Amino acid sequence: MRPMGAKIQVARSIVALDRALRRFKRAGKIALVPTMGALHKGHLALVRQARRRADKVIVSIFVNPTQFAPAEDFASYPRSMTRDLAALARLDVDVDLVWAPSAEVMYPEGFATRVVPEGAALAGLEDKFRPHFFAGVATVVAKLFVQCRPDFAIFGEKDFQQLRVVTRMARDLDLPVRVVGIPTVRDADGLALSSRNAYLSRDERKAAPTLYRALAACADRIAAGSPIAPALADGRATLEQAGFVLDYLEARHAETLAPLASDAERPIRLLVAARLGKTRLIDNLGVQFKER
Ligand code: PAJ
Repeated sequence: MRPMGAKIQVARSIVALDRALRRFKRAGKIALVPTMGALHKGHLALVRQARRRADKVIVSIFVNPTQFAPAEDFASYPRSMTRDLAALARLDVDVDLVWAPSAEVMYPEGFATRVVPEGAALAGLEDKFRPHFFAGVATVVAKLFVQCRPDFAIFGEKDFQQLRVVTRMARDLDLPVRVVGIPTVRDADGLALSSRNAYLSRDERKAAPTLYRALAACADRIAAGSPIAPALADGRATLEQAGFVLDYLEARHAETLAPLASDAERPIRLLVAARLGKTRLIDNLGVQFKER
């Protein structure tokens, strides 16, 4: 146990990280929680899961420039390292190390290699609207896995396509890490917690839970046997009425994220992305069919 009030150890260079890792490897299993900071209860749930799985817990905090397109919110993305470290120190479980490399440490001059995922990364969901995104994510997550050599890596189902892409990437590159997904943490009104919720105005925040409610209504209808296309069409209409501009609301195969060949295919995941004013929100939900 870290003594009460003690500061969390932070590594900012590969040398410092390696020194910590040598100690950690002797202690047993390592779990990594990759984040971009601006930590909220969703991230903290991943940290708790990491603690349950392993002897040493590393949280990485790195706002990864390569997963943002030039017109996106890299510059304005919330950065709050001091607050994040305080939140981790206050947590009811111990974090052993925060890995917080600078952009120069992650991408030194001359950096020239990318991991470009296919499969779920080409499902026509996030990739269609953020074409640069998954190569940026896969490259940085591959580097984080090689840097931290974790036995477990904990990701949120909140970013469902990302979870599938990263799981496949680790397998394809023979990285000896078990990728673990955990359910989305939501506010009381259903809105999935996200660092980007901070961008919402008060009125937008009031409208935002409609995203989850529309998903849940669609999932219930489909689970009760309704055809999928009209359920989704109604969901889209509900969201547009609430002021969202939709990127997509789709039903996909939950494992491959491929379009459903028929309404009888299982398991089904509903995935949505929509803009409310300037803020782009994503969410997803599994369809829970009753046992027959
Ligand atoms: P970030 O958006 O900071 O999210 C870090 C992790 O927290 C991801 O695995 C994400 O799915 C999870 N997460 C976010 N909101 C959540 C919620 N409400 N409930 C449960 N989990 C939640 O995702 C990224 O950063 C980056 O793409 C990263 C993987 C770190 C690579 O740069």
